[in-house]
This record gives sequence, structure tokens and C-alpha cells, in this order.
Amino acid sequence: MSNEKILILDFKGINNQSIARIIRDCCVYCEVLPYNTSIDEIKKFSPKGIVLVDKEDELINNEIYNLDYPIIEINNENKTELKKFVLDTCGCKGDWTISEFINNTISDIKEKVGNGKVLLALSGGVDSSVCAVLLSKAIGKQLTCVFVDHGLMRKNEANEVESIFGPNGNYDLNFIKVDAQQRYYSKLKGVTDPEKKRKIIGEEFIRIFEEEAKKIGTVDFLAQGTIYPDIIESGIGKQKVIKSHHNVGGLPDVVDFKAIIEPLKLLFKDEVRKAGLELGLPDYLVFRQPFPGPGLGVRIIGEITEEKVKIVQDADYIYREEIKNAGLDKMFSQYFAAITNLRSVGVKNGVRTYDYAIALRAIITNDFMSADCGNIPFSVLQKITNRIVNEVDGVNRVLFDCTPKPPATIEFE
Ligand code: XMP
Repeated sequence: MSNEKILILDFKGINNQSIARIIRDCCVYCEVLPYNTSIDEIKKFSPKGIVLVDKEDELINNEIYNLDYPIIEINNENKTELKKFVLDTCGCKGDWTISEFINNTISDIKEKVGNGKVLLALSGGVDSSVCAVLLSKAIGKQLTCVFVDHGLMRKNEANEVESIFGPNGNYDLNFIKVDAQQRYYSKLKGVTDPEKKRKIIGEEFIRIFEEEAKKIGTVDFLAQGTIYPDIIESGIGKQKVIKSHHNVGGLPDVVDFKAIIEPLKLLFKDEVRKAGLELGLPDYLVFRQPFPGPGLGVRIIGEITEEKVKIVQDADYIYREEIKNAGLDKMFSQYFAAITNLRSVGVKNGVRTYDYAIALRAIITNDFMSADCGNIPFSVLQKITNRIVNEVDGVNRVLFDCTPKPPATIEFE
């Protein structure tokens, strides 16, 4: 890691993450540690300066002031003051780079793993993909990636993941693809309750992963694509949990391993993307929209059937293609098609139909906790609608969801 480090001490406040973000934007490495970090640990961390975020007088260890580091108290996102502190007062050069992070992480992994075996659940999302590449560069075939195709991925996505990481791909690793589509469809048959659906999808994932892990036997490390916001939000100084985590939980309980390895745990999302690009992952993967763990399962209202999966995949593909063609893809934080449980009367080629309605969603948000509806020009909506009703069998109506969050959620279930 760069020699220039800023230490952020967290007093259970709410500004840690944004402060850390601003310092990283100055190309200076920083870490958030709890307010009660010992003086010895602080010395060992050897910061160029210390930022006390949302400081509380009764919690501060006053010995900190006897150390020889510049100190600043910050209670809000005062960017200019913070930049001045980091670059002028502390004299940081601002030369921390992602490639330095990558090189250091690869050598850290080598040292930590030694001759050990590592297991990673690869979802095809940016975090687990970047994690896989870093591990592959460090330890090659000592890494096994398990990719479960639950049949609820976006169109072509499972093949894309396989072509990047599979035997014909670019990386030195063991890749196990589990074709679990039919297994999921039969487990989900007849289930309409949203929570039950989510539970089945999550539990089945854990079961499949467990089966694959058993085949491999004892592994030394379980790798996870945890990123810095997960760590900060889970409460470094036990601050309030701001966001509940959607990530598939429970893996550590079913895999026989000695330790967890989290190569991205000090990176923010945009830094993970930068690392992905630097490591040669394709743009479409690096800039993939957020995609929920239960996949299209939360975009198929009511019972999940193979027919509905195909319909929503095809409609979503057309929607994404046309949004991109219209140059709007960078405008929205997330946009996707869902299949409603509404079937209604229509007419096609002079024949009466009784088909599904597709709902389109496009949102703009900073934190995904609240969201505004994105503005798509009507002509673009018309084009998308025409393509979907003409090209996707089983759809005779396309609706646009204008609802912000709250009161609606981003996903439909
Ligand atoms: P909601 O629907 O809660 O979504 O407004 C907020 C954000 O979280 C994503 N999301 C999930 N991500 N597992 C995930 O990994 C899930 O179960 C899950 N549910 C929602 C959603 O896509 C949006 O970005």
C-alpha cells in the first residue's frame, strides 16, 4: 500500500463513508477505524494525518493529541477543507493508484494463501468477477470458482460469464458451472408468495454451493467479494446500520474452510470497476447494472415459470438495447423489464389474444434507498413497445412504471 495513508476515526457517526470517499478521490489511501483504536495500532498504521469524523468528546482518547500527526475534526462533507487538510496540512502527494492496489493485493494474496486452496462463489457481477481475476492472477489453479446458473439470469448472461471465466476464457482458474435451471424451476413451481420465492432461491443456492464444496473437499479459504461500503455500513464503530444487506448469506456455514479472504474489502464500488478495467475485464461486465441476487425471480410477479423467464429475458434485452441505442444508458442507475401477473385481452393479426403485460422501469438514485423515476422520451418508449409486442410472443401490452421509491421499491417483489 502507498506510504501515504490517512486514518479516519469513526465516532459512530453517519459521515465516515462520504469522508473516506472524498479522500480517496484525492488519490490518497485512507481507512476507517473505530474511535477506540489503540494508540499502538494507530502508530502501526502510521498515518500522514487523522480525521475525526462526527467526534464525540466523551469518546475521544486524548492521547491521540500527543501523537505527532496532524488532526482535523469533520462533521459534514466539507470537501474543500478536507482536501486542504489532506494535501496541504498532511502533505500527501495524492499518488495512490488502482494499479498499485492491484499489485499489492496480488502479492498479499500470494503470501496469505501460500499453497492453499480457495473457493469463490462467482455470480457474474462486477465484485465477484474482479475478485476472481485478482485471485487467479495471484494463485492460478489453486482457485476454484463455482458459478450457479439458476435460470434467472438476464438473457445470454450465463454464457457470457462462462466465456470469460470458463475453460475457453482468459483466466487461469478452475471453473465449475452448475446448470441448475430445471432444479430451480421445479422448486419454484406453484409458489407465488414473494418472500417464499426469495427464500427458496437463496436456500437452493446455498444447497448447491454446499454440494459443490463437498466435492472439492476441505478448502483453505472461502473468498468473498465484500466491498468497503459493506464493511463501513456494517458498523466499524458499531454505528447504525443504514442499509440492510441483500447479499446471499450463509455460505460460511456450509463450507469447510479455515479462513475468509476478501480482496476487495477496502475498495469502493467505482474503485472495483477501475480495478476490473485495469485487469482487462470487458466493459459490459464492469459497468453492469446492479442485479439482485434472486435475479429475474423478483421481476416475475407471481409464479415463476420457464415461459415467463423467457418472456421477461427477451423483453428486457430489447429494452436495454433500445435504451443504449437512444444514448440513454448512462442516464439511469438501473433500468429493466418485469413481467406482471396481469393478462389482458388484445388482438394480433386479427386474432384475439390473452397475454401478459410487461412493465418497464428506469430509475435514478444515488444510494438505492430512495429513487426517482427516469425520464424516457415518449418516442423511445413507443419504439421499445413496438419491438416488444412484435418480437416477444406472449406479450400484448407494455406499461411504464412512473413510481418513485418510496412508495414503490425498485424491484417488483
Ligand atoms: P429495492 O427493490 O429494495 O432494491 O428498492 C434496492 C436495490 O437493491 C437491489 N436488490 C437486491 N440485490 N439481492 C441483491 O443482491 C436482493 O435480494 C435484492 N433485492 C433488491 C435492487 O436491484 C436495487 O438495486
